[in-house]
Amino acid sequence: MEKEQFIKTYSVQRKKTDSIKWDALEERFGSNDLLPVWVADMEFATPETVRDALSERIQHGVFGYSLVTTDYFQAYQGWQERHEQSKFQEEWLSFSTGVVQSLYDLIDCFTEEGDAIIIQTPVYYPFSHAIRDKHRCLVTSDLILDDGRYVMDLKDFEQKIIDQQPKMFILCSPHNPVGRVWSEEELSAVLTICQKHQVLVLSDEIHSDIVLSDHQFCSSVSVAEGKFLDQLILVNSPSKTFNLASLLNSHVWIPDEDLRKTYQAWKKQYKQTENSLIGQLAAKVAYETADEWLDGLLQTIESNYLYAKKRLAEELPEVIVADLEGTYLMWLDLRSYVDKKQIKQVVQDEGKLAIDFGEWFSPRAKGFIRINLATTPEIIEQSINQLIGAIQQ
Ligand SMILES: Cc1ncc(COP(=O)(O)O)c(C=O)c1O
Repeated sequence: MEKEQFIKTYSVQRKKTDSIKWDALEERFGSNDLLPVWVADMEFATPETVRDALSERIQHGVFGYSLVTTDYFQAYQGWQERHEQSKFQEEWLSFSTGVVQSLYDLIDCFTEEGDAIIIQTPVYYPFSHAIRDKHRCLVTSDLILDDGRYVMDLKDFEQKIIDQQPKMFILCSPHNPVGRVWSEEELSAVLTICQKHQVLVLSDEIHSDIVLSDHQFCSSVSVAEGKFLDQLILVNSPSKTFNLASLLNSHVWIPDEDLRKTYQAWKKQYKQTENSLIGQLAAKVAYETADEWLDGLLQTIESNYLYAKKRLAEELPEVIVADLEGTYLMWLDLRSYVDKKQIKQVVQDEGKLAIDFGEWFSPRAKGFIRINLATTPEIIEQSINQLIGAIQQ
């Protein structure tokens, strides 16, 4: 679907709809008069096919205990095939209420208090929150910037593993916030290190469908034709792709039978939640029908990114914009213009923007910000104007 038609058909106003992004600004940022380009959801409605299926189900009027939605896995598999993604097996799948919830569960299940867990920073902040909340030791290996593009520091990563002996590595693929879609070679290198040192890999692939042109996503399960399946757990969800986060339906994929048995036993003891009927129905119909919708969304994200990048290059050429290969999150280094200590004053108090601050992703990323591009071109234009205006002042 053409970008213009996508924007015209699916843009929605979200203020006063109990949206965290729009209606929790006072609570989260201490001010209501900000333009929100923070938390990762979108100003776009899910496809009509999904809304129609939900309406029909709602009209039925009964929301009692439910089975897994009929043909759910076939719908997922069809989507994976059409989008040239990996083949998963149905027996690997369990449902959860969200990827972050699964991170907390899998840390509980596969590690003990005091164990070390490694992540590659800057990274989606619930990774470090989960590790700390669960009283595990946080080990970080910083990504390095190589000509506008972040890469893994494999030497540092392996050394940290040797020194601190983590039990688990939480991989973010594609990577939020630096926008990388890791290549098979990169994944193979990092998974080989984990295999060598017996580190269990938890691969968060929630952004796997949000991949921009010229890039190809590779799931950890497919790397080296499945060579790492016995030390791998994958989490993903339809929520990021189709804007369904509040419907509480996500996936945990465990290819290895022993790991799966351990998780099932843990779940029996600690997790007796039902599936989300509405969440599963929405996801199933989206997997069956939302190809064109996704195409329109990806064009919109890419166009917003190119616009923002161009404007910044023209007016603030020293801002470093990380190359966006995947995700809809743009990562900016403002340190050439703004003193790290004044970033909130400039961007939020003067620029009137609600963004994600770099230090949420790593203490060493003060002076960076993350902007959400999954919105209308008007909101992106306005937010870039406000950012440029505040910095130039
Ligand atoms: C890498 C990553 N994992 C997980 C999530 C959130 O997943 P959920 O809403 O299913 O907890 C996000 C949301 O932005 C994310 O970027």
